[in-house]
Amino acid sequence: TLRKAVIAGNWKMNKTPAETTALINEMKPLVANADCGVIVCVPFVDLCAALEAAKGSNISVGAQNCHWEKSGAFTGEISAFTLKEMGVEYVIIGHSERRTYFGDTDVTVNKRVRAALDAGLTVILCVGEYLEQREQGITAELVAMQTKIALGGVSKDELSRIIIAYEPVWAIGTGRTATADQANEVCASIRATVAALYGADAANALTIQYGGSMNAGNAAELLAKPDVDGGLIGGASLKAPDFAKIVEAAS
Ligand code: G3H
Repeated sequence: TLRKAVIAGNWKMNKTPAETTALINEMKPLVANADCGVIVCVPFVDLCAALEAAKGSNISVGAQNCHWEKSGAFTGEISAFTLKEMGVEYVIIGHSERRTYFGDTDVTVNKRVRAALDAGLTVILCVGEYLEQREQGITAELVAMQTKIALGGVSKDELSRIIIAYEPVWAIGTGRTATADQANEVCASIRATVAALYGADAANALTIQYGGSMNAGNAAELLAKPDVDGGLIGGASLKAPDFAKIVEAAS
């Protein structure tokens, strides 16, 4: 990659608070010398434990979603402002699991992105196609549309607090990684979409991650590609040695 890489772990619905403390304590020495960004995105109820364990280290903490309203009658939801006040720096928005299982749409993704930016968070915005869409040859158009809608109302200044994660849905949790060329091709097409909206300088400064079965064995090849600026790691982020190897590959 041409930019400083960012490696983010998405723990999904895994780990209790006590397990969070233990895993971050195990990770800390292993990633201490990283020459890349290191983020762990944990379940909401693990955020306190994660922030406490990561204090003073080079590990930043993120959430996996947020609601777009600041407060109100939204039972079970969490506001971006609450996350910010806790000391959370990052939030994943529009993960395919949110889109597939929990009704997130491009429009609600955009509302969440806006709210997260307004609260002062940095967004990890997920886009990506289903296998059928890849086979139909619409990957670039679909991902361009997801990106454009999600970034509606986002200023050029605010773009510095956006990371885009390209995650082909067929590669998530399947052990079937996109090839490095496939990953790079779509990351480059996202960068071109962003360049058309915000200009080449802003697009060249943008971090675009790949996600989908990235692991200690394949990370180096993916990260060697010029438009792949890091990874959003699911399964392999739950084991400290594996996550550390990916961080090392990105450094
Ligand atoms: O957010 C992370 C991705 O969904 C990738 O998950 O590494 O388990 O395939 P995975």
